[in-house]
Amino acid sequence: MNVFGVDIGGSGIKGAPVDLERGEIAEERFKVLTPRPATPEAVAEAVRQVVEHFGPPRGSVGATFPGVVVDGTTRTAANVDKGWIGQDAAELLGGAVGVPVTLLNDADAAGLAEMTYGAGKGRTGTVIVLTFGTGIGSAVFTGGRLVPNTELGHLELRGHDAETRASTRAKDEEGLNWDRWAKRVGRYLAHVEMLFSPELFVIGGGVSRKAEKFLPLLEGVSAEVVPARLQNNAGIVGAAMAAAAAAPVVAA
Ligand code: BGC
Repeated sequence: MNVFGVDIGGSGIKGAPVDLERGEIAEERFKVLTPRPATPEAVAEAVRQVVEHFGPPRGSVGATFPGVVVDGTTRTAANVDKGWIGQDAAELLGGAVGVPVTLLNDADAAGLAEMTYGAGKGRTGTVIVLTFGTGIGSAVFTGGRLVPNTELGHLELRGHDAETRASTRAKDEEGLNWDRWAKRVGRYLAHVEMLFSPELFVIGGGVSRKAEKFLPLLEGVSAEVVPARLQNNAGIVGAAMAAAAAAPVVAA
């Protein structure tokens, strides 16, 4: 079954039909730049463009959002326009696209994809998927089930919101080398480990492509730490999974 997935990020909005049997995008993805300011209306229009690039949508559409999403309503907006707070975003996006849209947190989507098709496949203990980018996103699983909307990127670490110190944005903005950044990430993971005792951390986000540069430098973490496998497409695949799970089953 092919379902459409859209990943709404701070810099780009990208989407593709997803082959849910393989956990892969079924066609080359299409991306538009995230409008500035990224108001709900402007983003909804961009999502419509991404979906319509592939023709009129036939089935369900899933979309990720970089904040807390409860029952289709976006509750927080750490790194996007504050107009999203309290917005019935599923309704807004569905209206723009013309079919129902299932919305979920971006890290939760990436986590679902990694647990089903990627680095967390078959793991039944506590697994924490962390995405490093503009912010730090988290997805917590136990027995393969997701606890949605955990916001572990905002844990306080040495008096700071952790993502302001250990995200890849912090690395870029402060010009940190791999060694200095890995120290911060290690301290952060050790803190999360102290709270949750996971058996596995899966490290996602664009930086997972450069895992060999920093995973060997992490100190103070006893859980296994591995890079995400789906990398750039995890959000799109996870969004499509959520849409498929939410779609009513139609008898043949
Ligand atoms: C948000 C999370 C999001 C993460 C990654 C954080 O700032 O609060 O909801 O998953 O960034 O985008």
